[in-house]
Amino acid sequence: MSNATAPMSRSELEAFWMPFTANRQFKAKPRLLAKASGMHYWTPEGRQILDAVAGLWCVNAGHGRREIVQAVASQLETMEYAPPFQMGHPAGFALANELVKISPAPLKHVFFTNSGSESVDTALKIALAWHRARGEASRTRLIGRERAYHGVGFGGISVGGMAPNRKVWSASLLPGVDHLPHTHDPARNAFSRGVPAHGAERADELERLIALHDASNIAAVIVEPIAGSTGVLIPPRGYLQRLREICDAHGILLIFDEVICGFGRTGSPFAAQEFGVTPDMITLAKGLTNGSVPMGAVLVSDRVYDTFMQGPEGIELFHGYTYSAHPVACAAGLATLGIYQREGLLTRAKSLAAHWEEAAHALRGAPHVIDVRNYGLILGVELEPIPGKPGTRAFDVFVKCFERGVLVRQSGDVVALSPPLIVEPSQIDQMFSTLGAVLRGQ
Ligand SMILES: Cc1ncc(COP(=O)(O)O)c(C=O)c1O
Repeated sequence: MSNATAPMSRSELEAFWMPFTANRQFKAKPRLLAKASGMHYWTPEGRQILDAVAGLWCVNAGHGRREIVQAVASQLETMEYAPPFQMGHPAGFALANELVKISPAPLKHVFFTNSGSESVDTALKIALAWHRARGEASRTRLIGRERAYHGVGFGGISVGGMAPNRKVWSASLLPGVDHLPHTHDPARNAFSRGVPAHGAERADELERLIALHDASNIAAVIVEPIAGSTGVLIPPRGYLQRLREICDAHGILLIFDEVICGFGRTGSPFAAQEFGVTPDMITLAKGLTNGSVPMGAVLVSDRVYDTFMQGPEGIELFHGYTYSAHPVACAAGLATLGIYQREGLLTRAKSLAAHWEEAAHALRGAPHVIDVRNYGLILGVELEPIPGKPGTRAFDVFVKCFERGVLVRQSGDVVALSPPLIVEPSQIDQMFSTLGAVLRGQ
């Protein structure tokens, strides 16, 4: 067996086909992480890296939290697994109850999954099943949005709006899916601080789709309140409210995909509360267990859940995963929510947002910076693409920041930051001084 901490040869890197990675490029010059604690990672050589992206938008309470480690270890000792179909275990119910306490009021029920992708597919399936259960089986159309990322299941890529994630599987996408226009409008909104002023009217495109298909054929609209993976797109003022109004007027369910917005990222427990718009379902993952054990969830409103519970006796929803409410994930989730509550992390981003915003907008004027967008503890810096080589400029920034000890994220020509919510102002300054120096070629 090879030693996991020893440097690996090129041939040892071949067995692992890495996800969303340029495998050949990576394997020619690997970037490895071997240890993590608090706000930092360490490379196998012992180089310290400041984590400006919470791993991948998930380690909101910072790395290596003892409470989570102990809860997971103790659960593994007590009971490593319990079947979730027609059986239960206390931690599943306990976690559902804790989640409901921090959720928008009508969302009182939790369906557990193992990832964001599964949460999205689950929410879409619940939406279709709900309309059918209510006698409106013709409501089958799903509406997503351009530049949306909803994971990689067939449901998620169908309602998603990222061309590379759809292109190869184009003929196999779900039928009956439409897309709203995205809300990115740099001509009017570049360098907005917080929510941009322009673009609420883009929600009205939903009216056009309703006129085209008739509401009686439309099941649900799914959007990320803040689109993360396609480069941090903040919703224009009034946009989400408008979507909610139109959905309500036409009996359409509204789903918020909060896989990245959830658990304090915006300054509220969920973006739904932050923006004052309550959807019928919220999809979650990532921060639910602080990234420690894979887990996702769908928060479901009373209205939706009750319809199923008033239906015929027996299994109400033919859906679930072997690892739904996995006891170890539940233990990690309970410990994580405990930390969030005790340390005020679900609202801490609010107190840091002004400092974050100032530091972010100081990047304006750096070479090739064509937009800076921020909300809570989220940042997107958009760079002018190199002609004919989209994404390479931001990738170069990502690599150089890593070489200088700061982990940022690249998505197309956007550099995104989303640090653990335990970040200190001095660490924010370090992130921005490193990013600024790299952008300025210093
Ligand atoms: C908004 C959103 N939805 C869904 C997903 C998919 O989550 P997972 O990678 O856990 O399947 C992601 C992942 O980044 C996401 O950002």
